Amino acid sequence: MTTIRSKITAIGGTLAYPPIRLRTEVTRKHFCGKWVVVTGASHGIGRALTEKLIAAGANIFLVARSKEDLQLLCTKAKQQGYQAEYHATDLRNREDMELLCQRLKKALPQLDYFFCNAGKSIHRNITDAVNRLHDYDRTMDLNYRALVALSLTLLPALKAGKGRIIYSSSVSTLYPMAPGWSAYHASKSAANAWCETASSEIERSGIRVHVAYLPLVHTAMSDVNEQYCSLPGYSPADAANILLRLCMRKGYCYKPWWAKLSAPIAYLFAPVIRLCYKKIR
Ligand SMILES: NC(=O)c1ccc[n+]([C@@H]2O[C@H](COP(=O)([O-])OP(=O)(O)OC[C@H]3O[C@@H](n4cnc5c(N)ncnc54)[C@H](OP(=O)(O)O)[C@@H]3O)[C@@H](O)[C@H]2O)c1
Repeated sequence: MTTIRSKITAIGGTLAYPPIRLRTEVTRKHFCGKWVVVTGASHGIGRALTEKLIAAGANIFLVARSKEDLQLLCTKAKQQGYQAEYHATDLRNREDMELLCQRLKKALPQLDYFFCNAGKSIHRNITDAVNRLHDYDRTMDLNYRALVALSLTLLPALKAGKGRIIYSSSVSTLYPMAPGWSAYHASKSAANAWCETASSEIERSGIRVHVAYLPLVHTAMSDVNEQYCSLPGYSPADAANILLRLCMRKGYCYKPWWAKLSAPIAYLFAPVIRLCYKKIR
């Protein structure tokens, strides 16, 4: 019985999370010699992405708080003959952000890709957040404000390079808002809205904007939630391939195939879904 159940789970997992393949030659063709900024490069999806960019021969500018991890990645890139810089900083801190912006303006007169990937998720019901306004400040500052501040700073460089902004969003923002995620979903939805507006406003200047509505990816962020550990999901390397493929193509966003089908239906049944949410609270 257990074997049958695990087989069904495995088949379901493969259907929901089909392999994301990307050949190294293709990545090299697109990224070799290009300048790329990655936020959240130290762990999870951002780290896997950075490793693929190094293998593809890109010049990298990395941002996150963990200095040693960024240093190691930059050393690896430099050993392979590419240019690499890092800025270890907390993107929620406005003074630090200002210093980073000044440095980016000087360091990068031209930019090809800006992967805005650093993020934080919080799962907490609103009634449990009565004395925790900082939950909302922190998620907004990192998931939304950092995107806007860095994009505005990098706009001239992106314009010069006819570059692309790629934002790591979440598939869950495509559905009626689930309980417990008010801080995370509000900040990610704000970023989605900014990207959608930017896409229509700034594409005239040659800059393209993309949003990846990522499904579950097994990283430190998602695996904090015990229930998610046993669910099917992508690896950080798969998610990195999704981001890389997205910015090699013309389309605005990535959505898993099942989200394209089910999210509009979920909105049709939103009153029923909200009723269920109330029951599970
Ligand atoms: N994992 C998923 O299932 C999933 C699904 C949908 C969307 N996403 C999105 O994908 C992105 C990456 O998530 P992940 O799963 O790879 O998470 P992760 O493993 O926790 O990595 C988050 C990255 O962001 C950096 N970061 C966190 N707080 C920061 C801060 N205050 N200042 C600067 N950098 C900071 C972290 O580096 P330091 O700790 O060194 O600062 C780390 O490099 C996020 O935007 C997330 O919302 C993830």
